[in-house]
Amino acid sequence: MKKTIAVAVAVIVSGFAFIALQDTAYTGGTMPAPDAESVWDYITQKDYTQWKFFPGYEGMYPGQSPHGAHLKLYANDIAYDAAKNNRPMPEGAILVKENYGKDKSSLMAVTPMYKVSGYNPGASDWFWAKYGPDGKAMAAGKVDSCISCHEAMGGGDYVVTEPK
Ligand code: HEC
Repeated sequence: MKKTIAVAVAVIVSGFAFIALQDTAYTGGTMPAPDAESVWDYITQKDYTQWKFFPGYEGMYPGQSPHGAHLKLYANDIAYDAAKNNRPMPEGAILVKENYGKDKSSLMAVTPMYKVSGYNPGASDWFWAKYGPDGKAMAAGKVDSCISCHEAMGGGDYVVTEPK
């Protein structure tokens, strides 16, 4: 009897350990791994165009170089709540920016930022990417140009846009 219980406990414990191990693969179960393809699949499958706009930036608004002349900035719930409450972006936060040309209708690029605990501790753990409108990645990962400019632009946590 004791042996049976011991075995049962061992099975349960190792089961949890297995789940925990899988979860430590970045943000776990439902969040994408920080690579170009997984993040693109995730944001398109979750249809980011149905997400909330970054607080105070509903619809299209003017942007500046190197981003589009016109922008749309979407936030998943985690990112939206943090922005709304002026808190730093927690793990799992995703901002997706659409960059449009001067004509306001041609989508030039999609540039997300995605916070993944432990991914890049020296630069606030953001995964950065730039995709063409067709999802082709032009840059992805710990992209130096994104990081250094966002750092220089100020704004805590590498987020330049201030919620309003
Ligand atoms: C030379 C400076 C510069 C570079 C390089 C740059 N950004 Fe930005 N980024 C900005 C500025 C300025 C804003 C504020 C919006 C605007 O006016 O364009 C911004 C805004 C954003 C936003 C909206 C959230 C926020 O921080 O305000 C995202 C998302 C973003 N950039 C992603 C990226 C990604 C991904 C890259 C690299 C592929 C990148 N950016 C490279 C300057 C830069």
